Amino acid sequence: MKGVVLAGGTGSRLSPLTRVTNKHLLPVYDKPMIYYPLQTLVQAGIEDIVIVTGGHSAGDFLRLLRNGKDFGLRQLNFAYQEGEDGIADALRLAEPFVRGDKVCVVLGDNIIEGSIVEAKKRFDAQEQGAKILLKEVPDPERFGVPVFDKGKIVRIEEKPRTPASPYAVIGIYFYDATVFSRIQELKPSGRQEYEITDVNNSYLADGHLTHEILDGWWTDAGTFESLWRASKLVRELRENVLHDEPVLAAKGEQPA
Ligand code: G1P
Repeated sequence: MKGVVLAGGTGSRLSPLTRVTNKHLLPVYDKPMIYYPLQTLVQAGIEDIVIVTGGHSAGDFLRLLRNGKDFGLRQLNFAYQEGEDGIADALRLAEPFVRGDKVCVVLGDNIIEGSIVEAKKRFDAQEQGAKILLKEVPDPERFGVPVFDKGKIVRIEEKPRTPASPYAVIGIYFYDATVFSRIQELKPSGRQEYEITDVNNSYLADGHLTHEILDGWWTDAGTFESLWRASKLVRELRENVLHDEPVLAAKGEQPA
C-alpha cells in the first residue's frame, strides 16, 4: 500500500501565520505539523510515501524532511500542486506514484493519538473499494458528516449546516486504484473545489465503502482553536509517557 500526505492549500483560516509559510510546517507542540501524519503512515508500516504540496514554501518541505531519515525512511517523494482546487484535485497528482496500488491518504493537518495499523490490515483484506474512519465530535458541521439509515451510511454531507449525525469523517482515507478515475468524474462543488467527500460518495453509490470508528483522540489543526488543541493534546500525550517512565523504572523495566 502506498501513502499520500496532502499538504497543500492556502491555510487561509490561519492567516497571518500562513502568510510566509505553509500551514503544515507550523509547530504542533514540539514538531512541525507534517511530522504527525507522516508518523501515522510509517507506524502502520506504509513506507512508500508521496507528499503533495504547492505554493511558495514547497522547497521548505525538502529542507525539513530530506529523505525522511527522522522517520526511518530511505526516501520520500514529492509532487507539486499548481493552484488550489481542493483535496481531491491534490490527490490526482499522486496517480503516477501510486501506479495501480491501494493507497492510504492522510490530510497533512490531521493528528491522531493512536494508530491505524488495524484499520490498514482490514483494508488490506478488503477486496475492493474504500474505507473511511469516523470520530464523534462536538462540532460535526466543520467536517464531512455521514448520514445513517438503519445503521448504514447512506450519504456523506460536506460541512452541513444541520449535521445528521455527531460523527466527522476524519482525514485518513483508504482507497483502491479506482480512486483516480472517480476523481476524473467529479464536478467542482459550490465552493469551486473538488471535494474528497464526493470521492467517498462515489464509492458509497457503488456499495464499496466501509467505515470504522477510530480509537483514541483525533483532531485537525487548520484553525486557531484546533491548532491550539492539537498542541495541547500532543503535550498531554508526551506528559503521560514521561509520567509512566518512573513506574517502569521502578519495576526494573526500560521505557520503550
Ligand atoms: C476536509 C474534508 C472534510 C473532512 C476534514 C477532516 O475539510 O473536506 O470532509 O472531514 O477535512 O479534517 P477541511 O477542514 O480541509 O475543510
